Amino acid sequence: MKWDTMLLEENCLKLIDQRKIPQQIEYFRAENYQQVIFAIKEMVVRGAPAIGAAAAHGVYLAARELRELEGDIFVKELEKALQELGNSRPTAVNLIWGIRRMKKVLTSNLDLPRDELLQKLLSAARDIAREDVEINKKLGDIGQEIIPQGAGVLTHCNTGALATVGYGTALGVIRAAHSAGKEISVFVDETRPRLQGARLNAFELKEEGIPATLIVDSTAAVLMREGKVDVIVVGADRIAGNGDTANKIGTFMLSVLARAFEIPFYIAAPVSTIDFDLKSGQEIEIEERDPAEITHWEGKPIAPEGVDVFNPAFDVTPAQNISGIITEKGIIRAPYTEGLTRIKPGGDSN
Ligand code: MRU
Repeated sequence: MKWDTMLLEENCLKLIDQRKIPQQIEYFRAENYQQVIFAIKEMVVRGAPAIGAAAAHGVYLAARELRELEGDIFVKELEKALQELGNSRPTAVNLIWGIRRMKKVLTSNLDLPRDELLQKLLSAARDIAREDVEINKKLGDIGQEIIPQGAGVLTHCNTGALATVGYGTALGVIRAAHSAGKEISVFVDETRPRLQGARLNAFELKEEGIPATLIVDSTAAVLMREGKVDVIVVGADRIAGNGDTANKIGTFMLSVLARAFEIPFYIAAPVSTIDFDLKSGQEIEIEERDPAEITHWEGKPIAPEGVDVFNPAFDVTPAQNISGIITEKGIIRAPYTEGLTRIKPGGDSN
């Protein structure tokens, strides 16, 4: 993509405003950590790796704001800010992962003069951003092997450069397959209710010149029955230790269809999306968002006033519906508990 998703500057975090794409390309400036929280909650920035990197920079901005405070008070106030950042959205584990990584840098450098501590935090946030792009490219190269020449590929939500710091996860796999010369065509789920597929994935695919067809979410079954879908690849917001995967609402339904039509169904995500503390997907907290996302369209009602609404932003796909989890450490297949343990940071193979 020719635009940067985010720019981690010394005095602010510049985020491409994902609420406005594709109509406008505008940057949102978060000059303090509260504005980073706003940006995450309101989905100026969204996608698990992107919110992880944004929150990491939020930690730096919080420390910058509080830098005049003395010793214990500085630490206490910063702890509060980190809590608030961590609570901005509940499902994507990358958010907590990014904050924890920054917290380690913070605690091991607390003795430094404030300016030096701030520099350490800024470079740690920038490391997270730089590594994210490298990881995605690696993941894409590894994952593209699951996409056959000439394949019809179905994907859901946006998992490209916008959802990360650059390149993308599931869309990174698709991008790598295209770069490898495979003549693929992509079916893009529109992804109700926030339309990340229609607004963002279709936008990125068009930018990259990858042949893509936009469909409403409920068209997926028809395409599968007609034999037009050879493989499905989607991203993840949190993967439990047993491989159960939370991703954008509608992913679980696709996985059930994939089983019915015997179509390979893959998850693509960095290791930072795996929550090794969780035994199964039942423990994953699923965010419920504002009913107005369903009852209203551009501020106008499209449903009767007062109707009951259920609007979960994510669902959990059970591990048994997943053909493989593509990570930067390789493609993990069942049994997932063993496979994921092998790539755990600090584990056997690390
Ligand atoms: O609500 P969103 O748009 O933040 O949800 C994003 C997704 O579900 C993505 O599929 C996931 O974060 C992976 S992004 C590389």
